[in-house]
Amino acid sequence: MEKIPTQIIREGLVKLIVPEFSEYLRENGVYEPTWAPVFYNPQMKLNRDLSVAVVEAYSEAKKPILVADILAGTGVRGIRFAVEADNIDKVYINDKNPIAYEFMVKNIELNNVENIVEAENLDANLMLRYHKFAGEVFDYIDVDPFGSPVEFIDSALASVKIGGMLGITATDTAVLEGKHVNACVRKYFSRPIKSHFSKELAIRILLASIVQRAASQELGVSVKLSYYDKYYVRAYVVLVKGAKKADESLKKLGYVVFNKRSGEYFVVNNLSELLSISADKHYIVAGPIWCGNICEKEFLSKVSKVIMRKEHLKYKELIRLLQMLNAELNMPPLYYSIDMLGKFLKKSIPPLTSLIECLISNGYSAVRVHCDPKGFKTDAPLEVIYACFKKLSP
Ligand SMILES: C[S@@+](CC[C@H](N)C(=O)[O-])C[C@H]1O[C@@H](n2cnc3c(N)ncnc32)[C@H](O)[C@@H]1O
Repeated sequence: MEKIPTQIIREGLVKLIVPEFSEYLRENGVYEPTWAPVFYNPQMKLNRDLSVAVVEAYSEAKKPILVADILAGTGVRGIRFAVEADNIDKVYINDKNPIAYEFMVKNIELNNVENIVEAENLDANLMLRYHKFAGEVFDYIDVDPFGSPVEFIDSALASVKIGGMLGITATDTAVLEGKHVNACVRKYFSRPIKSHFSKELAIRILLASIVQRAASQELGVSVKLSYYDKYYVRAYVVLVKGAKKADESLKKLGYVVFNKRSGEYFVVNNLSELLSISADKHYIVAGPIWCGNICEKEFLSKVSKVIMRKEHLKYKELIRLLQMLNAELNMPPLYYSIDMLGKFLKKSIPPLTSLIECLISNGYSAVRVHCDPKGFKTDAPLEVIYACFKKLSP
């Protein structure tokens, strides 16, 4: 570690030793975190800020909680939980990279959290299974990998307490959004499609995969908060014990049927419904996907309260994300894109706000989506959407 150029930065309420960014610059001058000997990506700050608020909101009504940050890099996230969230008993931060381990140890010292944070240097699956074997299971496990989280989900499910929470990131959005169909089927057991709603489809495929893996361990899944940002999907779920609970979660999986000609789509909950749809060569089917809400109202409200009472988390981008997720609650799954409508109708694109106002004035619900600046959700039928668009098209 002595030979690695480092710097001390601040994130949230912690100080951190991280690699010197200027040593790992792409030709365009942008820092590339995967080139550094230890991974730290300042662009994921919002992801970590929200995870602090989620962990605090989740632990509020509990005894102090036991946390594992199994892919910790510099340890930033786990140390932030210890420093910034109330109600933490102990945090294990783990990374298989021995250099990361040295950074974690230094960062624990730098923040004086030796009493509640412990660094480990194991393969993440081994770490979780080892703790379980020793009789220790976790209230909250954070899974923040390079790319797909799937290789860690089974161990995380086996090592989380009943009623415990998993926070899972997937950065392989090209796979989840349908650019690599076979990879998605292999990793997530779900067939994606490239479409105008692919970002939300990515969230729903990750959730469906968690539900199916949890069901194999007789666990049901309660989805608390999930979203798409920049180039990743993040899901927070709570595990509920029992074969019946697992069956109930599985019933919330379904398929999306997409008409490539008109942009129309609809979601069906089971295979018999799917089979009853008249064969149309323009229909393509994706799934299984999670068809339930991607956030829970009460939980969103708890997280928002945490953010409003913690000055350093109370900033525009994070507040806006939570407001948009809140507005999407109880709206139908997936969304339309104003650009896609322009393409199908071969007309110029009116302002999205005007289109939303038109749908609302026709008696329907319509809102912008958090994951795509051109996207909107509505319960209006396609004819009404087309009619509003044509009326407003300049
Ligand atoms: C995306 S980085 C984690 C970033 C960190 N959570 C943060 O917020 O800064 C993924 C980390 O996982 C570690 N890793 C990859 N495979 C692992 C494995 N099988 N077991 C333990 N650590 C692993 C890598 O060394 C890397 O530090």
